[in-house]
Amino acid sequence: MRGYGPETFGELYADQYDAELKGKMETTTEQSVEVLADLANGGTVLELAIGTGRVALPLAARGLTVHGIEASEPMVQKLREKPGGQAIPVTIGDMADVAVDGSFDLVFLIFNTLFNLTSQEAQVRCFQNVARRLTPGGLFVVKAFLPDLHTFVDDQSVRAMQVEVDGVRLDVRKHDPVTQTIRYQRIRITSDGTRAAPLVLRYAWPSELDLMARLAGMTLRDRWGGWDRSPFNAASIEHVSVYALND
Ligand SMILES: C[S@@+](CC[C@H](N)C(=O)[O-])C[C@H]1O[C@@H](n2cnc3c(N)ncnc32)[C@H](O)[C@@H]1O
Repeated sequence: MRGYGPETFGELYADQYDAELKGKMETTTEQSVEVLADLANGGTVLELAIGTGRVALPLAARGLTVHGIEASEPMVQKLREKPGGQAIPVTIGDMADVAVDGSFDLVFLIFNTLFNLTSQEAQVRCFQNVARRLTPGGLFVVKAFLPDLHTFVDDQSVRAMQVEVDGVRLDVRKHDPVTQTIRYQRIRITSDGTRAAPLVLRYAWPSELDLMARLAGMTLRDRWGGWDRSPFNAASIEHVSVYALND
């Protein structure tokens, strides 16, 4: 999508990001913080695409040393406005390539955000970038959805996400099975006018991520069907995968 880049998400969503998640993610956030704190085991932590600090801030509040990478200055600005948000060092840049000082016992990339890297090449580089930042034996945690392509007919879908008395919100999606990309427009139509916000995702199945990890010198250590550490199986709609840097 022309004009769409790593900063676009924050430019479009920073102002409403926390408000839109309010009341929807509390249990998921608590569970993810619990699992990540356990895996960090008191060590140093780096979150890729740290956003407004939804997970990084509670981890830091537990006494862990947390750093972040983030492409969007407006998202980091929201993090800075929260209690404890000034204390978290954040490197502004593209998580596929940007260098960060220091090494980390745990790196994590959650909330499907690996798929915000819109090519296989960028995702491969991201795994390699992570491997360069990990301490020996360090862990990389990825949480992502499993692609559900049943919702597409002729590689297209339009879904009514909200229908209210004063307007409607539609998700319009176009799928490209060759590049494994989905181009979205989230469209809001109200009496005030029409607003369209784009999103581009490049999805991958867990097996492809395992190969990316292998290319970067990491091996799958655990895979769960969610933050509750339920078994990963054919009914899973998402996965939490834990990769370890090879010796
Ligand atoms: C869905 S939000 C997730 C934020 C946070 N990790 C959370 O769980 O709440 C996606 C974040 O990824 C950031 N992002 C997108 N592409 C990026 C890239 N190439 N490098 C770094 N950050 C990126 C966006 O700016 C946004 O803050």
